Parts: sequence; C-alpha cells; structure tokens
Amino acid sequence: MDAVMQKKGKAMWRQWGIFIGVAGWAFSAMAVTPQDLLKGYEAQSAKASPSRGEQFFNAKHGKQWSCASCHDNPPNRDSKHIVTAKVIKPLSPNANPARFTDEAKVEKWFKRNCNDSLGRECTSQEKADVLSWLLTVK
Ligand code: HEC
Repeated sequence: MDAVMQKKGKAMWRQWGIFIGVAGWAFSAMAVTPQDLLKGYEAQSAKASPSRGEQFFNAKHGKQWSCASCHDNPPNRDSKHIVTAKVIKPLSPNANPARFTDEAKVEKWFKRNCNDSLGRECTSQEKADVLSWLLTVK
C-alpha cells in the first residue's frame, strides 16, 4: 500500500468510528427504562403514589372512557380498544417489557389518551402515579 492509500484508509476508519459513536449515543439517548421515566415525572412533581395511580387509571374523569376502558384492569394481558376493537398489548411493563422504553412514544400516547379520557393532558404527577402503579402490576 502506498502512503496515500494508507492515509485514505485511516481517514475512513476514523469516519466509521465517529459514525458508530454517534449512532450509539443517539440510541442510548432514546432508549429509557420505566424507572428513568418515573424519576423524571417525580422530579417535575412529587413522590408517586401507586394507589392514587390505580384509582386514576380505573376512574372516569368526566369523559366517556377510563384508561381501563381500552387497557383493561389489570392491564397485564391483551385488551381491546373500546372503539376499534383492535388488540392492545399489555400496558404493564412487567407483562410487556417494550412498554415505557421509548420516551417519544410514551409522551405521544399519554397526550392522546389523556385528552380522550380527561379532555386535557395528564400532569407529571398523574403520569408518575399511573406509572408507579403499573410497575406493581404483575
Ligand atoms: C380509546 C382507547 C384508549 C384509552 C381510553 C386509553 N388508551 Fe392508552 N393507548 C391506546 C392505544 C391504541 C395505544 C397505542 C397502541 C399500543 O401501544 O399498544 C395506547 C398506548 C398507551 C401508552 C404507551 C405506552 C408505551 O410505552 O407503549 C400509554 C403510556 C398509555 N396508553 C396510557 C394511557 C392512560 C394513562 C390512559 C388513561 C388516562 C389511557 N392510556 C387511555 C388506547 C387507549
């Protein structure tokens, strides 16, 4: 290999190294655990209460549906969407390890479902309470 090729080769490896580093960083920034999310919600409010979360989840809040209308109670098994009858996988992270591991997805659905059930967004305290309860549902 002549010197020019060697130089090119090194530059290419360096680029790969940067690419892999950035991709790894982006992935770790996106992937969270339910415990991370809970801590974040608690930091924006106060300590979570699982029993308050359970009540919140099963009660109606002035609208037609409770969270349990679509997610069932206990939310540790497949349930049916109350309108479309589509199957919804279990919401409890113990029954479904994919839950509460993608912050963007969690926020998107909290926003949408809270609006459907409460006519407003959920507060950080409500999210903390529900999530802390879901973590106790086996
Ligand atoms: C009208 C039906 C319906 C109601 C009512 C409902 N949800 Fe959902 N929920 C869905 C659907 C559909 C999805 C997205 C499909 C999926 O993730 O399985 C979802 C997903 C979610 C997720 C995403 C979790 C994750 O990490 O994947 C959260 C959190 C959630 N719901 C919380 C709630 C809470 C809290 C309430 C009550 C305030 C509620 N939902 C009420 C239908 C509903």
